[in-house]
Amino acid sequence: MKVTFAAGGASAPRLVVRVVEQDKLPATLDATTAEAAKASRFSGKLGQTFETFSGEGGLRRNVLAGLGEPAGDARLQAFERAGAAVTAKYLTSGETAVAFDLGESGASAGDAAALLLGAVLRGWRHDVYRTRLPDDQKPTLAEVVVLNAPDGTEAAWATESALAEGVAFTRELVTEPANIIFPESFVERCRQRLEGTGVEIVVLDKQAMTDLGMGALLGVGQGSRRDSRILAMRWKGADVAKPTAFVGKGVTFDTGGISIKPAAGMEDMKWDMGGAGAVAGTMLALARRKAKADVVGICGLVENMPDGNAQRPGDVVTSMSGQTIEVINTDAEGRLVLCDAITWTQKEYAPATIVDLATLTGAMIISLGHEHGGVFSNDDALADALLAAGKASGDKLWRFPLGVAYDKLIDSPIADMKNVGPRYGGSITAAQFIQRFVDKGVAWAHCDIAGMVWADKPGATWDKGATGFGVRLLDRYVRDVLES
Ligand code: BES
Ligand code: MN
Ligand code: ZN
Repeated sequence: MKVTFAAGGASAPRLVVRVVEQDKLPATLDATTAEAAKASRFSGKLGQTFETFSGEGGLRRNVLAGLGEPAGDARLQAFERAGAAVTAKYLTSGETAVAFDLGESGASAGDAAALLLGAVLRGWRHDVYRTRLPDDQKPTLAEVVVLNAPDGTEAAWATESALAEGVAFTRELVTEPANIIFPESFVERCRQRLEGTGVEIVVLDKQAMTDLGMGALLGVGQGSRRDSRILAMRWKGADVAKPTAFVGKGVTFDTGGISIKPAAGMEDMKWDMGGAGAVAGTMLALARRKAKADVVGICGLVENMPDGNAQRPGDVVTSMSGQTIEVINTDAEGRLVLCDAITWTQKEYAPATIVDLATLTGAMIISLGHEHGGVFSNDDALADALLAAGKASGDKLWRFPLGVAYDKLIDSPIADMKNVGPRYGGSITAAQFIQRFVDKGVAWAHCDIAGMVWADKPGATWDKGATGFGVRLLDRYVRDVLES
């Protein structure tokens, strides 16, 4: 979706939207429209829209979009949702452009940018494989024009549009099927998209990882025809002693391996790379808005397949850290990927802070459903900062405990640890496993986002499908913690 700014007047699209707070119709609204809005029970509630047609000087569609009561912390989210509601309504309406007239809206530049962010995010679709889409189901809305924008809106939008681009990239990676996005092609897609942004890319292939001793990660990919990769993307927008690292689980398809998953719903496991997808989208957003921060994004990329060469339950592998792991269940593969990715990240970049993102456990969906991701951390300040970033960005998190009693549950009789604990507390023992690979002195948080990367129904700023969860969370964390 293209965004342009104009003074208003003759060249404006015929579809013109004004935003309205709860029970506050614009003073300049003509009497008939005001009455019609009331007759339709339009009150300016958040997400509500109202439309009338008028005929002077050609047909016009006059739309009111409700903000509710956009107070305090909820203000930006109200503008965002109003913008998204308009896009959702007109995306396939036949209209090609929509104007938001902010003249009397009382909106600040930040409010206006939030409105645009909502409008643009909600317009994202992935139609590349739909070759027979009927014309009346094709998206038509391609442009948003802002009329009478408050001062500073263009600059504020320059920042938010970078974020929108990052979210869109993550959704694209997550949506693509596993015959298109596998470790090697994930890397290539990132190379293409990041070219010219100033992000520096390093890739480890199978041989390099073998030489480094990444037995845990490589064991997962062992049954696949697609070789594993590690992708590192560095954005050095500040000169600081130690970078911050974001590490993503990138299982491009998770069959479960020899501990194979049931057939029903297995297609969902194409989005088992949602953590890595969020890391890649975040790096794009940071680079596009030239964030004043030193961040490295690492993706552990593997495909988990059953095969004559696949690893077996009971196999013992040696991780890059030297710690050995008894692989009880080959379907608990995400932690095996993350442990080596984290060890390498610490060796290579010596980060002060590591945040990992992973679609790690089904148990997390049982706990929190599709409203929050779970966060685990060895550092209260980091956990608090992520919880705050989650609230502010809408990518919400909820904190879970860690502790020695949980940690004991993954001791193994034959190796240093096993890759699964008992059935109960499955998300926590998974986090304990990862924590065993975090070096002393490193502030670390693990976000289990299994319930968040894919939506079965439309949300405020996404259609059903890939949500782009994690990009807004990490971008907000960078803004509020690293850049201020
Ligand atoms: N990728 C899955 C977790 C998952 C399941 C994400 C459903 C999204 C939706 C992960 O690799 C997995 O299979 N975890 C197992 C762990 C178990 C074997 C200890 C799980 O959650 O069942
Ligand atoms: Mn699995
Ligand atoms: Zn998985």
